[in-house]
Amino acid sequence: MTDPKDHLVLFMPSGKRGRFPKGKVIIDAARELGVYVESVCGGRGICGRCQIDIQEGNFAKHGITSSNDHISPFGAKEKRYAEKRDLKEGRRLSCSSTVEGDLVVDIPQDGQINAAVVRKVDDGRVIERNPALQLCYVEVEEPDMHKPLGDLDRLKVALNDDWGWEDLMVDSHLMPHVQQILRQGEWKVTAVIHRDMETARPSIIALYPGLKNEAYGIACDIGSTTIAMHLVSLLSGNTIASSGAPNPQIRFGEDLMSRVSYVMMNPEGREGMTTAVRVALNGLIENVCTEAGVEPNDILDLVFVGNPIMHHLFLGIDPTELGGAPFALAVSGAVHTWASDLDLVTNKGARVYILPCIAGHVGADAAAVTLCEGPHRQESQMLVVDVGTNAEIVLGNSHRTLAASSPTGPAFEGAEISCGQRAAPGAIERVRIDPETLESRVRIIGVDKWSDEEGFDEAAESLGITGVCGSAIIEVVAEMYLAGIISEDGVINGSLAEKSDRIIEDGRTFSYVLWRGKQTHTIQQTDVRAIQLAKAALYAGIKLLMDKLEIEQVDSISFAGAFGTFIDPKYAMVLGLIPDCDLDKVKAVGNAAGYGAKMALLNRGYRREIEETVTKIEKIETALESKFQDHFVNAMALPNKVEPFPKLSEQVKLPEKTADNNGSGDADGGRRRRRRARG
Ligand code: FES
Repeated sequence: MTDPKDHLVLFMPSGKRGRFPKGKVIIDAARELGVYVESVCGGRGICGRCQIDIQEGNFAKHGITSSNDHISPFGAKEKRYAEKRDLKEGRRLSCSSTVEGDLVVDIPQDGQINAAVVRKVDDGRVIERNPALQLCYVEVEEPDMHKPLGDLDRLKVALNDDWGWEDLMVDSHLMPHVQQILRQGEWKVTAVIHRDMETARPSIIALYPGLKNEAYGIACDIGSTTIAMHLVSLLSGNTIASSGAPNPQIRFGEDLMSRVSYVMMNPEGREGMTTAVRVALNGLIENVCTEAGVEPNDILDLVFVGNPIMHHLFLGIDPTELGGAPFALAVSGAVHTWASDLDLVTNKGARVYILPCIAGHVGADAAAVTLCEGPHRQESQMLVVDVGTNAEIVLGNSHRTLAASSPTGPAFEGAEISCGQRAAPGAIERVRIDPETLESRVRIIGVDKWSDEEGFDEAAESLGITGVCGSAIIEVVAEMYLAGIISEDGVINGSLAEKSDRIIEDGRTFSYVLWRGKQTHTIQQTDVRAIQLAKAALYAGIKLLMDKLEIEQVDSISFAGAFGTFIDPKYAMVLGLIPDCDLDKVKAVGNAAGYGAKMALLNRGYRREIEETVTKIEKIETALESKFQDHFVNAMALPNKVEPFPKLSEQVKLPEKTADNNGSGDADGGRRRRRRARG
């Protein structure tokens, strides 16, 4: 029973609290409450990983008056550590200090020890840590002729005595080196223990002489176009370097299906693509390590995500079965393997974890996005969309979650668009069109001014205005619609050619001149059509999931991926790319797949969470649903033939529904109207 005289201790940021008797070692109190505090040296006061801050003051909400007088005075171990390693003002070692009164204990999130790697490239979110690896420093008994226990066996005894590890396995690559490492460290060594699942036998996967106070992991999203990699400190949770590279498989096929066809047509095709992606990954590992001043040998855990075809090719699995119905995955569950088996140049004992795939066309990347955004953790209906050449859609809440993919094609990425280009300096990224004059103004990547602002021409001179990037295509078409240049059916209104020289005849249809300069960029009728087809595919997929859930409205929308980062949600909704929703509930979440991978890297609890979630997510095959076609046809209109978009209408004045043209989109139609207008 708790003694009422026990002291109340609150740990932040977790908010976990409990009562502990005077003299309780603070790290032990934290552990009893399930608060993760790092420790490599096992409380010897030499690793400095267990640092805490005591918050002073009266915390009325919690009924705690916390003070530095309520923790034991600075002891010998802390003094020795502070002299040797520079303990920040106010910091204490939780392994070497005790509870003496009520306390609010802050576990700092900058638990970085090694000054060489303090540079952070994090996005500010904090992931609670519970990694699959633990660094355990031990002092091993020296050999004794009278006790013939082997060196490795005495190491295991020390790990059991000091850390409670029982039944340890040892990676075979380590066996030949154990004796040498023990002697090199003068019987003081740091063992790296890997245990992902609580039920699994733990393994010693690496061994370092002396105190090893840092270990690194990799979180990586293998996209079909781009690979994004993050180097993460497993002990502090900080991302210390990030790098990206184009996926070299592009040379075998631009999109996923052409890569599958390549494998089908070429006997060596699968192997070539597997090698290509692994070589690229090793290049990225080298890059992030060089940038952070880290040895690849110190990388001990790696987490990968990717769509099913990337996933299979990385693992060396033939993706042919994913090329057609029933889209059979060779393996859908999470994969646990060795980095060396995948030809990755890291520590020999490094482990790899790959998130589970949701379905044959909704992969581990979508699982990672789900883990990051967490529709399955909330009550409200959350829509998560990851737009690439395929759009992955996850919709639902804690009661029921559905997933699907929709074949949006490459239009959103600027391909198939006459003036489309990838996002690079000089590309048009923002567009406004005056509904009266139909004149446009633009902003380009690399220049911080609108084209009608003073200084734009000079600033843009060296870059040139080279094309329209993917995210801006959405904005152009939506602005054209809001300005009345295109009808709700997406037809460029040729009759406006009388009013503005920006509307030009282009064969049987009309085009809009978005930019006239050294280079002229026009939006053609075919461009508008390509965007309509892509957005209709996406919307129809979303609508199918809404039908299944019997909901008319989603409560929030998360846009994952690079595309989502740059599009303005308002324009996405004007186009009818996403369903009606409060605009302030629509957010871009960046590389959520990479972030989900990082969550799984730093906390094995997230691995279990997504493994379980994936088994519960219902997979919808859009191609097999008869209503898909109806939804698709309705979604070809702007924003939609049948959906009213009431929330959007509150914030944006949408054009009247009736289109001011014949809907044919051809130049003759435009001329007929002009003739009528002249009487
Ligand atoms: Fe190593 Fe406290 S646990 S210094």
